This record gives sequence, structure tokens and C-alpha cells, in this order.
Amino acid sequence: MAEEQKRGLEGAVIADTRLSRVMGDVGRLVYCGYEISDLADNATYEEVVFLLWNQRLPSAAELEALRKTLFSHMALSEAEIDVMRRLPVKAHPMGILRTAVSTVGVFDPEAEDNSPEANQRKALRLTAKMPTIIAAWSRIRTGKELLQPRADFSLAENFLYMLNGKPGSKPEVDALNAYLVLLADHGMNASTFTSRVVTSTDGDMYSAITAAIGSLKGPKHGGANEAAMRMFFEIGKPENVEKWFKDEVKGKGRRIMGVGHRVYKAFDPRADVLKRQVDKLGPGAKENPVFLIATGLEKQVMADPYFVERKLFPNVDYYSSIVLDAIGVDTDLQTPLFAMSRIAGWSAQVMEQWTDNRLIRPLDNYIGPMDLKWVPVNQRG
Ligand SMILES: CC(C)(COP(=O)(O)OP(=O)(O)OC[C@H]1O[C@@H](n2cnc3c(N)ncnc32)[C@H](O)[C@@H]1OP(=O)(O)O)[C@@H](O)C(=O)NCCC(=O)NCCS
Repeated sequence: MAEEQKRGLEGAVIADTRLSRVMGDVGRLVYCGYEISDLADNATYEEVVFLLWNQRLPSAAELEALRKTLFSHMALSEAEIDVMRRLPVKAHPMGILRTAVSTVGVFDPEAEDNSPEANQRKALRLTAKMPTIIAAWSRIRTGKELLQPRADFSLAENFLYMLNGKPGSKPEVDALNAYLVLLADHGMNASTFTSRVVTSTDGDMYSAITAAIGSLKGPKHGGANEAAMRMFFEIGKPENVEKWFKDEVKGKGRRIMGVGHRVYKAFDPRADVLKRQVDKLGPGAKENPVFLIATGLEKQVMADPYFVERKLFPNVDYYSSIVLDAIGVDTDLQTPLFAMSRIAGWSAQVMEQWTDNRLIRPLDNYIGPMDLKWVPVNQRG
């Protein structure tokens, strides 16, 4: 690897942004000037969507207008649903989401229009349709009837309603709203970088977001919430934590899913808020074995010199898996929910990239052989 660049582009700055600032050394995250804990405690997801798209908070009238416009774009067309119905029910929901978002793009007459106005409309459509896609897939694969969104509901309320066939309770809606606020943007993470790279080729919004979904899926990025949940299930009982940590982590060198971060060398502020959300979900959530396993494993991590020296703390995916599980989201739908929130940030980053777009085209360092002579195929050994 060339000396001037660290592996994995660590520390490389690839854009100026007005959207979010991650201060990894002190564990702070700011959207357009506002502290993440302040937003999670007070803002609706729609307010954060407006903030990221406009770099200011909306007035009451603007917020209601955005809620209504989002609602008006939520329903999927018959053609879009028809494509989804043909997909295999055993496929991973992130593959389904990637395919469905791409499908929305091919049916959109504005797909190839990269003007700022068309991009804003596409951002709206995607933000509105992603909750419907995820809820619809959950019902299609279990043979249930699909539900239409309700005009009086927020995006979080509509998602729970379309998923479960009944409105969520207030604590469930609040927890989901806080989750959506917390995950909406996060600096130059891998999927955001992917969306900017696609945009830098003058590529369209749907291509950028479809690629970003592919990038989010892996367990070193958004897929970590599902991987963390499966790890908690594997541990099984709170009393197994200590032995599991000794055998699997210390003994076999396994990575703890939902722990560690490229940028945060302090506690991830989003994990902190999510852990508090579990309290608000009532005694059932706090007594849930998976929460007790998670808090028990966190104690092992925070006391272990290996993790302390490397500044490895629970990240957002560690506790988001617990919150999403507590509000009834299937384990394999957890990463799609990450995407359902992050669409706000991805689309904002795509629109920001368009304001000063230049091809992102780094170099590599060739380390293969040189000056080999061509050998005809019948003379090769
Ligand atoms: C997020 C992550 C990919 C960041 O990776 P990175 O910045 O490339 O860090 P590295 O993989 O170089 O790891 C640095 C050191 O910490 C260790 N480490 C990192 N994450 C670890 C984890 N979850 N469990 C145990 N050790 C871990 C590595 O083994 C390495 O140790 P070394 O210095 O002795 O070689 C990594 O922490 C990870 O895989 N975490 C688990 C998956 C996850 O939660 N992803 C979601 C991130 S929001």
C-alpha cells in the first residue's frame, strides 16, 4: 500500500459537507449544528429529513406540508408490488429492498433527470416508499394482505401500522422515531461514500441509493445490527455471557458484533440514546433476556484491557438491535430499517454532491508482475 494513504482510506477527507459532523474522539454527533441527543429527544423524523435537505429546521406549516407530501408518495404502484410478489420469500430483505428501490427507479419517468428539482422529488419518493416496501415485504413473505398508509399518521406511525396491521403504542412509535432520527446521517460512512461515488459519475439518484443499500448490507456496516442480535441469541441467557466472552472472544478471537468503530474512539452517542430508549419501553424491555445479555456483555467489554486499549465501545448497532427487537421488528428486517432512516442522509449527501460534483477517482498501487511476454494458449503449461 502506498505510504501516503492508510488502509481502508482511514483519515481521508473526500468532501466538504454541511450535513453532519462526527467527532469521534469525544463521542459527539451533530446534524447541521444540532446535537444528536437533542434531536433524538425532541425532533420527529420528518423534522430531521427537512433539516438535512434544507440545513434548517422547518416551520410548523413546512413540517405539516412535508408530512402530507411524504404520505402522498407512500403507496406502491401495482407494478412495483407485482415485481415484489415475484421475488423468493427466502431472500434476504436487504436484497429485496435493493431490488425494490431499483424497481421504483425504473418505473419513475424522472429517473434520468438529474436537475436539483427532480432530485428533490426523487428524494421525497424514496423516503416515503422505503417504509412501505419493508412493511409490504414482511407481509408478502408471510402471506398477509398489504395495507395502505394512513393520511393522519407520521412516517414512524405508518411503518408500524403497515407492518403489524394495527397502530403502534406511543412508546413504540417514540422509540422508532428516535431510532430513525439517530440513524439519519453519519458523515462519510461506507454507504454514503458509495452514494457519492456513483453521483460523482453524474449517475442518477436511484443508482446511487441502490448502490448505497448494497454497501450498507455487510456486517461491518449496517448489517451489524442483525449480526449483533444473532450473537445475543447465540449467547442465549444472561448467565452465559461471561463464559461466551471467555471462550469465543478471548479464546477464539471472535469479533463482537456492534462493538468498535472506525471513527468513534469514545462511546457512540447514538448507542447511549438507544440504551435509554429501552428504559422508556417499560419493564418488559428491560427484563428481556437479550437486553440483559447486551448489558452484561457491555460490562465485559468495558472492563477488558484489550477493548479498553483499542477504545472499542458498543456502537449504534449494538443497542439499536435491542430497541428494534423490543418493538417487534424481525431480526432480518433490522438492516432494512437502518436504510429506511439513512435514506434522508443518503439523498441529502447525493444532492450536496451535485452542488460541486467532480468524479471521485482515487488511485491504486500496482504490486503485480511487469514485462511478462505473451504465451499462446496451446503453449501454456
Ligand atoms: C467497525 C469496524 C469494522 C471498524 O474497523 P476498523 O476501523 O477497520 O478497525 P480494525 O478492524 O482495524 O480493528 C482495530 C483493532 O481492534 C480490533 N477490533 C475491532 N473491532 C473489534 C470487535 N468488534 N471485536 C473485537 N476486536 C475488534 C481489531 O481486531 C484490531 O485489533 P489489532 O489492532 O490487534 O489488530 C470494527 O470495529 C468491527 O468489525 N466491528 C464489528 C462490526 C460492527 O459493529 N460494525 C458496525 C460499525 S458501526
